Parts: sequence; structure tokens; C-alpha cells
Amino acid sequence: MFINKPQELTHYVLEQMAKTEDPRTREIMVGLVKHLHAFVSDVALTEAEFHQACGLIAKLGQQSSASHNEVTLMAGSLGVSALVCLSNNGEGGKRATTANLMGPFWRQDSPLTASGESIVRSTTPGETLYVNAWVRDLQGQPVSHAMVDVWHSSSKGFYENQDASQAEMNLRGRFETDSEGHIAFQTIKPAGYPIPINGLVGEVLSQLGRHNMRPAHLHFLIFKEGFKTQFSQVYSSDDPYLETDVQFGVTQALIGQYVWHEGETEPNGVEGSNWWSLDFVFEVEPGVAYLPKPPISAKVEA
Ligand SMILES: [Fe+2]
Repeated sequence: MFINKPQELTHYVLEQMAKTEDPRTREIMVGLVKHLHAFVSDVALTEAEFHQACGLIAKLGQQSSASHNEVTLMAGSLGVSALVCLSNNGEGGKRATTANLMGPFWRQDSPLTASGESIVRSTTPGETLYVNAWVRDLQGQPVSHAMVDVWHSSSKGFYENQDASQAEMNLRGRFETDSEGHIAFQTIKPAGYPIPINGLVGEVLSQLGRHNMRPAHLHFLIFKEGFKTQFSQVYSSDDPYLETDVQFGVTQALIGQYVWHEGETEPNGVEGSNWWSLDFVFEVEPGVAYLPKPPISAKVEA
């Protein structure tokens, strides 16, 4: 077939995509071509801009490594990660959910840690924090024997994978919920942090005049067969960047209320000290348990 006009081209390419055998792949390919072609027409993309776009997409991959994922960071910075999350949880966005973005810093196989223990694995400055978390199903019943992965940044705003001075898997741990669906751990209160801007994401943010801060948060991943795997982030209610998160991740359901304890005995028995506590309840939905490929797999080299 000879193709002479833009509309003929789109029609013919869509016809080819429609031959895809697998129905879901077909749906995705047809939709992708439809929207890509519409995008090119809508913005009247020039040849120079198209060549630039191909270079930019290749660059996203080139700027990713075992300890950094520029693709995930860009997806978050364009609001795509948040859209996918909100569309796939809380009955397709009809009600509040404790699900949130995976983020670019989840690492698999963090140390299995007994409930109540600390995930501070090397000297890390910061205010002591005790977290109690509960996992419940949609009926409010406890979900026992769920694996809960926890990770967060230091008080300086760096994850251990970004910071060679932190021990391997510092501020990361895996816990198993008890019969009450409960886990507890000790750590330090995380700080908000700037996302890296030495790559393409930085260029995009600078063009937009947007800051590159994320409000302070703790990451969670809840895994149990029979339940939809839940990535979550619990944000600090006192953070100035709550409403302008560069990754568009903050929802009201995910704002954690930290409580300050002055001169009180810590849960680990240390008397008369100052510390924070945070209690939070996660709600998981029935569904398929699965683990995606982690966006990173190693620390930066020292
Ligand atoms: Fe994070």
C-alpha cells in the first residue's frame, strides 16, 4: 500500500497494530499509536523536534544505572506514576487509598528484621523515631504474615544507595506482620529531599521553573498472597513541600501525624529522652500479589 497523506498513515499503522495476537498487548499498541500520532499532529511536531525527542528518550536510559533510575524519576516528574497509582487503586480512584508511588529507590532483599528493632545500620544523625504500622483488609480485619518492606532517606535527604558513607541497606528493612497485622521499628525521622537534577529531569524542571523537592516520607511495600501488592509512602504533616511535591505523590490519606515525646521513656527502654512516634494504618485490597523489577539494585561506589 502506498501512503500519501498523514491520515492514511495513521489508519494503516493502526490496522497493522490491530493484528497483534494477544488482546491486551493489542489494546495497548493500538492506544499507543493512536495517542502518539494525535500528539504529533496536535503540537505540529517539527522534524528537528522529533530528532531531539528521540535523543532525549535514549538519554533517559543512558543516564540510568544500577544505583540510579532516570526513567522512573521522569515518570514521576510528569505525573505519570501518580496517575497510574490513582487509577489502579481505591477502586479505580473512587475512594481514598493508602497506595502510592514506588519511587526510584526501592531495593529488593533488604534485611529481614524483627518487629521493634532498628533499621539504623550505621551512624546516622537525626531525631529518634518509633513507627507502629498496621495492615488491614477492606473489612478492617488484620492481615497477618504480610511482608512489609520499609525504606527512607537520611536526615540529610539521601538514600543509602546514593550515599557511600551509609552502610549497605541503612534505613531499610523487611518486617512480617503479626496476628494483629502489626509491625514496629525504630529509625530516625526522615527529611524532605531534592530529587537529582544532574540529568534530563533537572533540565525539564528548570524549563518549568519548578523546585525539585519531595516532602519528607517513609516508603512501604506490603506483600501478601491474595492481596494486591501495595507500594505506599507516608508523608510528614509538618513538611513545607506537602502541596508542591515534585513527584505529585501526596494525597490526604497519606499524611502521617508525628507525635513529639519530650523527656519520656522510649519504647526500647531508654529513659527521659526526646523522640517522635508515628502510628499508621494501611488498607490493602484483594488482588494479585506481584513484585516489579526493582528500579535500582546497588549502592553508588565509594
Ligand atoms: Fe522517597
